[in-house]
Amino acid sequence: MGSLKAETSISKGRCNGTGKNLSPDSLINLDHGDPTMYESFWREMGEKSTIVILGWQLMSYFSDVRNLCWFLEPELAKEIRKLHQLVGNAEINDRHIIVGNGSSQLFQAALYALSPPDASEPISVVSAVPYYSSYPPVTDYLRSELYRWAGDAYTFKKDAPYIELVTSPNNPDGFTREAVVNRSRGKMVHDLAYYWPQYTPITSAVDHDLMLFTVSKCTGHAGTRIGWALVKDREVAIKMTKFIELNTIGVSKDSQLRAAKILNTVCEGYEGGNTNGVMRFFEYGRRLMTERWERLREAVRKSTLFSLPEFQFEFCNFDREIRSAHPAFAWLKCEGDIEDLEMFLRSHKVLTRSGKHFGADPRYVRASMIDRDETFDLFVQRLSTIH
Ligand SMILES: Cc1ncc(COP(=O)(O)O)c(C=O)c1O
Repeated sequence: MGSLKAETSISKGRCNGTGKNLSPDSLINLDHGDPTMYESFWREMGEKSTIVILGWQLMSYFSDVRNLCWFLEPELAKEIRKLHQLVGNAEINDRHIIVGNGSSQLFQAALYALSPPDASEPISVVSAVPYYSSYPPVTDYLRSELYRWAGDAYTFKKDAPYIELVTSPNNPDGFTREAVVNRSRGKMVHDLAYYWPQYTPITSAVDHDLMLFTVSKCTGHAGTRIGWALVKDREVAIKMTKFIELNTIGVSKDSQLRAAKILNTVCEGYEGGNTNGVMRFFEYGRRLMTERWERLREAVRKSTLFSLPEFQFEFCNFDREIRSAHPAFAWLKCEGDIEDLEMFLRSHKVLTRSGKHFGADPRYVRASMIDRDETFDLFVQRLSTIH
């Protein structure tokens, strides 16, 4: 694998296969945030989340030529609005919805749209350490003259325009975040991939200028490659749409309609007094995540070699109760004298991602909490026996 350590990098992911047939000494791959945990839910939903597309359907490039984002399927736009209304996690009034091939493409579209076109040097792109490990390589891989990765937002001193990437809850450590540079010449991209009730209390409908979401982490459909941006400014929305037009001439309609059906199924679970046989997705996800975090904390206690972040209890407007976060990743720290935790865990046949990819110390690693049951069971079992 090259230096680009995107979540979807397939080559390493294969060693888990389907997650079935793991033996007690199998290699466990928790390097990626592959959301296979949710397969069990969608298997239960069966026909309720199925769509059929006939051979003659969805053939045109165009979805809605009257819309600024002409390749956005109206059905998907409707379901996105409905879902945000249900969850109450983002302001959707007076926003343009831009659909992308995952939020990864929208992230690049946002950099393109927010960069001054005629500046004498590339605009600096920063994010607070520990930041999502894909930001630096994705920002720099084409060596754009428009923007350039400039590292940790906490140490950014340059008196010049900049773009700050704010991931909340954060990947890798799960904490809620706000912008840290806060200068007038800054533009912000809020990556809210994990701002859903199974991961964190929903404390308000966030209202930022440019917000990114994705079905990958919301419902677990990473393979469908659908993300969306909620954008306040019309000119920014036009430029993002142009980027996607030049890059991929839009986004698969098949995928958009599949995503629409999935979001619709999620919403149905909360409609009509829940008598329609559709399970409540966020309750299912939250229950699983809560249970997994309890088991992980217990394993870490037993091992005595590691520590985990502690999260505050907050009132969740969606669940109507006080609860704490159960993030999609465990940001594990070695409290012993091991300098390179990734290498150490690898020697115990557990693949994780080193803190150094997130701009942090190699005594930290990030481990996925959203893999299949079999993988997670083996992970906690093995962790508890490492001293
Ligand atoms: C913070 C964050 N943003 C974006 C992405 C990419 O999402 P997508 O699959 O929609 O491209 C990920 C994937 O792990 C992520 O963790």
